[in-house]
Amino acid sequence: MAEPARTADLSESGAFALELDGVGRQFGALTALSGIHLKVRAGEKRAVLGSNGAGKTTLFNCITGDFPPTSGTIRFFGEDVTRFPAYERIRRGLRRTYQISLLFGGLSVLDNVYLACRGVSRRRFSLLRPGRDDATMHQAERILHAVKLDEVAQRRVAELSHGQQRQLEIALALAGAPRFILFDEPAAGLSPTERRDLVAILRSLPAHIGYVIIEHDLDVALRVSERVTMMHNGRIFKEGTPDEIEGDPEVQEIYLGGGHG
Ligand SMILES: Nc1ncnc2c1ncn2[C@@H]1O[C@H](COP(=O)(O)OP(=O)(O)OP(=O)(O)O)[C@@H](O)[C@H]1O
Ligand SMILES: [Mg+2]
Repeated sequence: MAEPARTADLSESGAFALELDGVGRQFGALTALSGIHLKVRAGEKRAVLGSNGAGKTTLFNCITGDFPPTSGTIRFFGEDVTRFPAYERIRRGLRRTYQISLLFGGLSVLDNVYLACRGVSRRRFSLLRPGRDDATMHQAERILHAVKLDEVAQRRVAELSHGQQRQLEIALALAGAPRFILFDEPAAGLSPTERRDLVAILRSLPAHIGYVIIEHDLDVALRVSERVTMMHNGRIFKEGTPDEIEGDPEVQEIYLGGGHG
């Protein structure tokens, strides 16, 4: 079905942020992923749904280079990055958030974002305290505004609510010049109000920044994506628009326990 990656025309594949061709991942005898063919356009917002152990996080790990796939190829904006280390993908504008939080709890919210912006900029690290006119500090403040955390900028991260910490993780992913972000269950453990805030934040991200979001809540997934990919047992078994997915009898069977089937 999909053409071998080597024959793909570069200018054409540049329209895609991600092109996965036959991607698989083994852990010893366990097949965590197999035969994954996936294309996500630049700027596209995509949701990935699937049961526990379906291979969703493994898919992210292969895309980011946290560990490589055992088969297949991965292109990022037309470039074959399958064997690139994670930092080379970050340099090219790929970002991710983790299912488990990785924040500096003792630092302020603003300092966390500031350090993330410094970390991805090309400038050398300075031990001087940043001044108010520092361009990187302005960038950090703009990002905090985008994720609705301006009011808690000076708080220590450890004092934030769970929902605010997840918003901060999105802020860290926005540091530098991201072109594409992988969100691993950012809505996990959020209250209904925090979920609404998250949906609003995702929907207000710049149009040119595409993402894939792993999400267990079908309602959230349908509201923050243009296309939805469904996974089971390491494979993709369905893909469609939110309307198609919502109206799909098989999806209704899975998510509503057959109550509407
Ligand atoms: N580093 C690893 N070593 C061994 N097996 C792993 C590793 N990472 C994942 N697996 C296995 O691969 C399969 C897919 O796991 P993965 O974490 O990708 O699922 P998931 O869809 O993200 O699930 P969840 O919804 O619970 O987060 C599981 O059977 C898991 O136990
Ligand atoms: Mg997972």
